Amino acid sequence: MRSRLGLALVFAGIVGLCGSVGGLNARPAPVAPDESKPSTTADEKVPTFKADVMPILKTSCVGCHGAGKKKGGVDVSSYESVMKTVKANDADKSKLVKSVLGQGAKLMPPKNGLPEAQVAILKAWIAAGAKND
Ligand code: HEC
Repeated sequence: MRSRLGLALVFAGIVGLCGSVGGLNARPAPVAPDESKPSTTADEKVPTFKADVMPILKTSCVGCHGAGKKKGGVDVSSYESVMKTVKANDADKSKLVKSVLGQGAKLMPPKNGLPEAQVAILKAWIAAGAKND
């Protein structure tokens, strides 16, 4: 009875050992993190004039196109004055967009234009009706 139990324990030990070794070998190769998912982009929500558009104009344009200086007669320091360069719902026909792309108007800010992401914000805002929101 006693020896049988001993044998059983040894047997169980061997099985256990083999089992764990087998388990190690059977483990699947580590999976690389999935980077194929498209990242969510900002243009999923419509930009607003106050939160998105005005900060861009303030940073990049108002120094030359504000209440003090109105280079080329252009003022982008308020909604009303910005709208003189905007055709609501038609970004491509808006001077504001043409100027930051340098297409059909002088490139603004001069020599540099705006980063693509900021141009996209201006376009999306105009395409959605250029509201004073
Ligand atoms: C360093 C000064 C400066 C900055 C910054 C600047 N502009 Fe200008 N902008 C000018 C000058 C100077 C003119 C007049 C150019 C001319 O007629 O030769 C002008 C002209 C324009 C015009 C009329 C262009 C045309 O071809 O009729 C628009 C529209 C305009 N700017 C928009 C902007 C916007 C939008 C920004 C910001 C993204 C900006 N500007 C930043 C100096 C600046």
